[in-house]
Amino acid sequence: MSQILRDARKYEETRERQIKDEPRPAFHLSTRVGWLNDPNGFAYYNGEYHLFYQYHPYNSHWGPMHWGHAVSSDLLHWKYLPAALAPDTDYDRDGCFSGSAVSLDDGRQMLMYTGVVKETQPDGSTREVQRQCIAIGDGTDYVKYPGNPVLDENDLPEGGSRFDFRDPKIWRAPDGTFRCVAGNCTPDKDGRILLFSSEDGLKWKFEKTLISNNGRFGRMWECPDFFELDGKQVLLVSPQDMLPQGFEYHNGNGTVCIIGNYDSETDTFIEEKNQAIDYGIDFYAPQTVVAPDGRRIMIGWMQNWDTCNLHSPERSWFGQMSLPRELSVKNGRLIQKPVRELEQMRTNKVSYENVEVSDVIRLDGMKGRRIDMELTLRPAEGEELYRKFAVRFAQNDTCHTAVSFRPHESILKVDRKFSGSRRAIIHQRRSLVNSVNGRITMRIILDNFSVEIFVNNGEHVLSATLYTDLSADGILFYSDGKAVIDVVKYDLDFEA
Ligand code: FRU
Repeated sequence: MSQILRDARKYEETRERQIKDEPRPAFHLSTRVGWLNDPNGFAYYNGEYHLFYQYHPYNSHWGPMHWGHAVSSDLLHWKYLPAALAPDTDYDRDGCFSGSAVSLDDGRQMLMYTGVVKETQPDGSTREVQRQCIAIGDGTDYVKYPGNPVLDENDLPEGGSRFDFRDPKIWRAPDGTFRCVAGNCTPDKDGRILLFSSEDGLKWKFEKTLISNNGRFGRMWECPDFFELDGKQVLLVSPQDMLPQGFEYHNGNGTVCIIGNYDSETDTFIEEKNQAIDYGIDFYAPQTVVAPDGRRIMIGWMQNWDTCNLHSPERSWFGQMSLPRELSVKNGRLIQKPVRELEQMRTNKVSYENVEVSDVIRLDGMKGRRIDMELTLRPAEGEELYRKFAVRFAQNDTCHTAVSFRPHESILKVDRKFSGSRRAIIHQRRSLVNSVNGRITMRIILDNFSVEIFVNNGEHVLSATLYTDLSADGILFYSDGKAVIDVVKYDLDFEA
């Protein structure tokens, strides 16, 4: 093991002890120490889920990338393992960027990641050259392959940028051979996804450009994932520098789900539909795993690149993952639901039916900062359609976070203006959702520092981080005009 990795492991262990009492998300994975971004190497290996992450242990801002590592049996209770990778070789000395994992036939686990090296250009500027690398290990310790890098500029198609070539997502084909997709762009920064193949995971060959952006969705395309689901082929990708289109793609560096069909004879992806993956404020770079029972489960980085570096460097940790979400495709749309394992943490059920709301109300027993709340909203019979309905949570005299719905426009809004942030970051996001005559359902999952709203059983999802003091645990319901709700709330008991 290199001294650089040994130092990182020593540092995280010592520092973790110093900061162990600081408030954290309860059931969303956050970084062991320092900084966390993209999920990496999401896999089920040796009877457990493994999740690695982009990791800078030494402070709470992005820096030379390591891979942090955690394992879980239910995707909610995570145990940290020692850092898996550190930037410690001549081909990755400036960062071990995002990548993925597969199991090998001999029982070992193979990681594929992007090695980054800074290179001085003829004009004196510095650019990062990006190449794909392999490390193989036993679930705790990984050895970098001596033949690294396994994919470099020589493997790129015509015009491919060697400065933007990253985030390999590897999988095994049914015949046991290896495939991977990686992000790349043309010299004018137009994103595309490249497909590679390999017999053994070590010697790789460029197959084809699977899909080209052609100026549609942002610029460079990061963190692809590509899989079959419910008879369709799905590409998840995170384009940088997106322009909004109507109510889609408001996040700058955002996420896109492209659903289509795949012709495996010719390796051709035929696109049909596209949508944002998440319609809230904080979500990027998702990656999926197949659970032993066949579910395709996705987890994303629950932050936004435009707001993630505004905290003080003294903060001991920054960055959290989204809730793992079960994916399906229905009528050409990606449907996301919180993993069913979450239901095992439900306790203290409080429920109300047919509650008329026509002003601000509080309901007995409705409070909490780690909750799972299901809400069915409809108009009051024989009354004019209400104008606006809202739930406010993480609420006290000075704070609240709100989800509101305007049935006339069918627009749902998440608003975290009063959610403990002292910076003028983006606080609101509106999403056009499906509703008929003011009817809509929402499942709101609140953890200490986040909210995720699953609309109409996962047709739309909005995620946002919040910073409100944990003592703010009130919940209020509000309606302008008469609305009727059924509401069931559970506390989520992390110790369960
Ligand atoms: C996406 C990303 C990846 C890269 C990693 C670096 O958030 O920019 O493309 O591998 O973060 O930390």
